[in-house]
Amino acid sequence: MAKPCMFVANWKMQFSYLQAIDFCRQHGTELDARAKAHGLTVVLCPTIPALPVMVDVLRNTSILLGAQDCSRFKEGPYTGEISARSIAEVGCSYCVVGHSERRRHVGETDAQAAEKIGNLLAVGVVPILCVGETYEERCQKNTIKVIEEHLYNLTVAIRAAAYPVERLVCAYEPVWAVGTGCVADCQDIAQAIRVIKEWFARECPQVKDVICLYGGSVNEKNIAEIRSIDLLGGFLVGAASLDFQKFKNMLSYDS
Ligand code: PGA
Repeated sequence: MAKPCMFVANWKMQFSYLQAIDFCRQHGTELDARAKAHGLTVVLCPTIPALPVMVDVLRNTSILLGAQDCSRFKEGPYTGEISARSIAEVGCSYCVVGHSERRRHVGETDAQAAEKIGNLLAVGVVPILCVGETYEERCQKNTIKVIEEHLYNLTVAIRAAAYPVERLVCAYEPVWAVGTGCVADCQDIAQAIRVIKEWFARECPQVKDVICLYGGSVNEKNIAEIRSIDLLGGFLVGAASLDFQKFKNMLSYDS
């Protein structure tokens, strides 16, 4: 029996509106069959405008949808922002927060990520918080410190949540591994996941269900080895999720 496993496909800005919808029309049924056959949770995170149509196309399947970001503001005069509430209303079950590309390109901070998480929790969308060190931080042996810094602001959001937070997803994504073809080694991933799990047990014991993902150049060739890591709950997949054959092969592996 395979252990429970979650696959989050982060399509970034790689697929356009039409490409995202085409992918679902062409492959939705097969993707659903794979997910069911292997007991997997599959979450697709497309460009925001594609979501309403994808909800429709995937309506009778097990495939879930996620957003790649949401606003740190709840509502109001914030031109161009998309609220957590809209993310929930359009049909998303999950939302990625604090991805390293957003930290790098638009200066997203841990405090902002925490605000987003607070907004998502208030509307019942499960946040997927990305944490991970840069190459320099790794060389300075600061990986654990960086992960704990990323997690620190979360305490505030979780403690301020109006109702008990039972479920969160946290993805360990070393910045140097995202989109580079370099993968963290299994020992380092296992250590990062232990740090995350221990942090939640210590700081937010009320969050009973913390699913830890790994992301960063996962593909059909390296997945089997990574998947054997004990506490790993799944993967955040970028490039390899854009190619249906590759993604399908990744979903076929039973640990
Ligand atoms: P990658 O992206 O699989 O292309 O490295 C992962 C991510 O950014 O979530």
